[in-house]
Amino acid sequence: MPAALARSTDLTGRVALITGAARGQGAGHARTLAAAGASVVLTDLDEAGAEAVAASVRAATGRPDAALALRHDVADAADWERVVARAVERYGRLDVLVNNAALWRTAPVGEQDEEEFRTLLSVNLVGPFLGIRAALPALRAAGGGSIINISSTAGLKGIPGHSAYGASKFGLRGLTRSAALDVAAEGIRINTVHPGMIDTPMIGAVTGDGDATARDWPHIPARRIGTPEDVSGLVLFLASDASAYVTGAEFAVDGGLGAQ
Ligand SMILES: NC(=O)c1ccc[n+]([C@@H]2O[C@H](COP(=O)([O-])OP(=O)(O)OC[C@H]3O[C@@H](n4cnc5c(N)ncnc54)[C@H](O)[C@@H]3O)[C@@H](O)[C@H]2O)c1
Repeated sequence: MPAALARSTDLTGRVALITGAARGQGAGHARTLAAAGASVVLTDLDEAGAEAVAASVRAATGRPDAALALRHDVADAADWERVVARAVERYGRLDVLVNNAALWRTAPVGEQDEEEFRTLLSVNLVGPFLGIRAALPALRAAGGGSIINISSTAGLKGIPGHSAYGASKFGLRGLTRSAALDVAAEGIRINTVHPGMIDTPMIGAVTGDGDATARDWPHIPARRIGTPEDVSGLVLFLASDASAYVTGAEFAVDGGLGAQ
């Protein structure tokens, strides 16, 4: 069935909620899923940023109803109930959740601040848990769905200075595997994506000024930094019926960084 398989990344009629969508990879995922036909709900602490991306999605797709922007703190359970309810109220269903919002902070473990450690766990790990729990009733009502948890290379291997961030991203991997088993029989799939170095504001301090994509990156086997679109292709696959039998799995998209 190659023709049917080729069509299976069509998301027409589907609704996807993407957290942390005001910029960076989340904005890229919203654009890609909308281009594949989905209606997208963009959530972020930065409501104005999310609205600007939503406006660009509406313009690019030519669909005035293609995107909705909402203010959202992923660490807040009540906020999750509100944004899922608004998504269903606006579009009638929810099929896809991309748990993308996160914070990145680094420090040698002996100097790691306790409050910052707790904050990273709260946003990067408790946030996706709250999202899974809040989204499940809507995904069940839709007859199934896909949850995509954005982890990191730091969720696959140890990296100096990453005790807090790495703990949150390894935790997300464990959450995903167990949660996937709880809901697999209901047609709800949960997977992790592990980006390597991706050119976004999150790692602006590393990439510095100028065009990071034009530079050579000798420590990355592919010799280039990734773009949000590099990750969006995998997110599209996991959001769509092309990955109907894929759950509880982990996918690196890192130019070979994690394979070393
Ligand atoms: N950029 C990289 O190199 C890289 C590498 C590996 C993994 N990742 C992961 O990819 C995902 C996207 O990262 P990015 O590079 O686009 O980051 P980014 O910092 O550019 O964007 C993150 C977005 O999340 C939002 N956000 C932060 N805290 C939030 C909260 N409590 N509630 C709601 N929104 C919140 C921010 O406002 C921001 O718009 C993250 O999960 C990150 O950990 C990034």
